[in-house]
Amino acid sequence: MDLRHLQAAWHRFGEMDPLWAILTHPARKGGRWDIADFFETGRVEVAAVMDYLGALPIGLQRGRVLDFGCGVGRLTQAFCDHAAECHGVDIAPSMIRLARRYNRFGERARYHLNERPDLALFADDTFDLVYSNLVLQHMNPRYSAAYMREFMRILKPGGIAVFQLPGEQRAASDLPDAAADVPLLPASAFRARIRPASIPRRMLAGSRTTITVRVQNLGDVAWPAAQTPRDRFRIELGNHWLDQDGHMVCNDDGRAALPRTVHPQEDVSLSLAISVPDAIGSYELELDMVQEQVAWFQSRGSTASRSRITVADRHLPWHHAIEFVRRSASRDVPEPVMEMYGIPYPDVVRLLTAAGGRLVDAQRYDAAGEQWISYRYCVVK
Ligand SMILES: C[S@@+](CC[C@H](N)C(=O)[O-])C[C@H]1O[C@@H](n2cnc3c(N)ncnc32)[C@H](O)[C@@H]1O
Repeated sequence: MDLRHLQAAWHRFGEMDPLWAILTHPARKGGRWDIADFFETGRVEVAAVMDYLGALPIGLQRGRVLDFGCGVGRLTQAFCDHAAECHGVDIAPSMIRLARRYNRFGERARYHLNERPDLALFADDTFDLVYSNLVLQHMNPRYSAAYMREFMRILKPGGIAVFQLPGEQRAASDLPDAAADVPLLPASAFRARIRPASIPRRMLAGSRTTITVRVQNLGDVAWPAAQTPRDRFRIELGNHWLDQDGHMVCNDDGRAALPRTVHPQEDVSLSLAISVPDAIGSYELELDMVQEQVAWFQSRGSTASRSRITVADRHLPWHHAIEFVRRSASRDVPEPVMEMYGIPYPDVVRLLTAAGGRLVDAQRYDAAGEQWISYRYCVVK
């Protein structure tokens, strides 16, 4: 799809069902996203990103942020809690129109329609942070590659780009029939220190959110990473939900795979997508490591992490906006196509290096669905 068709498709999504087109939760299709829940996902995502950046050996300045492919401003608005001036850029006039409507920060949040295959609207060396999630994956790589080069151009020296992009596609039929086995761990390996970087105390019932968790190997042998998601005995981070009396409400919720082998005493930062219970109330969110089909680490003597979470119904400062979105969603227009693309990891690293960037960290970040091996890159100019 060329840029003109890409723009037409996203403009139509923005007119038909903008919030679902941005976060394609099946239960939220047809204008069924609650606007407050929707923006809350942005607040949680950005808080986790700031924690993630704070844990890296880089000096993040909080002056000027660009949210590339901002949609209706889910993330741009959230960045305003952390930076002085936030710019959102999008190719779809309908999305920019909604972003301006939802803006709660006046001149501190500015939205720009950009129909070009570059970011010529911004001068060189002018941003402290460029962030992009769920955007570059939807355009032909000739465009995403050009925008990544532009990220490097517009960043100040020392500025940081964090963005998500799939690498290779992994169709289910391509996966090996006979998946490999991760070696069974000895008893002394089931030891982990689990520290969530930031967990909001209040979450919205039925929502999905991603938290960042640091996990340290306190055992005496390495934890090998699985080669495929079908490998048996994978070593993963997972979470449970318990009610306030400590009874299990949900035993198997999210899972996050190890991005690499983790040696004794090493630690690793993992992004874990969790589903908040549907019923409001007080819960314990328990995080633990597991060797699949073998044991949770807790059952072998390790200590799980527990956080008390209030699961609340939506708050409602957004009534008129909700109505607007419902009306837009009800129009009877055929649905446009949402294309998916990836660029192999080594090519991304080469491209960024050639454009003056230095890769600081890359994490597996499966935002593009299980058919893709997807990454979140962190690059310093
Ligand atoms: C799935 S949404 C994600 C929105 C936002 N990043 C978020 O996570 O809330 C993708 C957005 O990227 C925008 N987009 C797609 N191609 C673009 C391009 N070439 N330049 C700027 N924005 C683009 C779309 O219009 C849409 O708003």
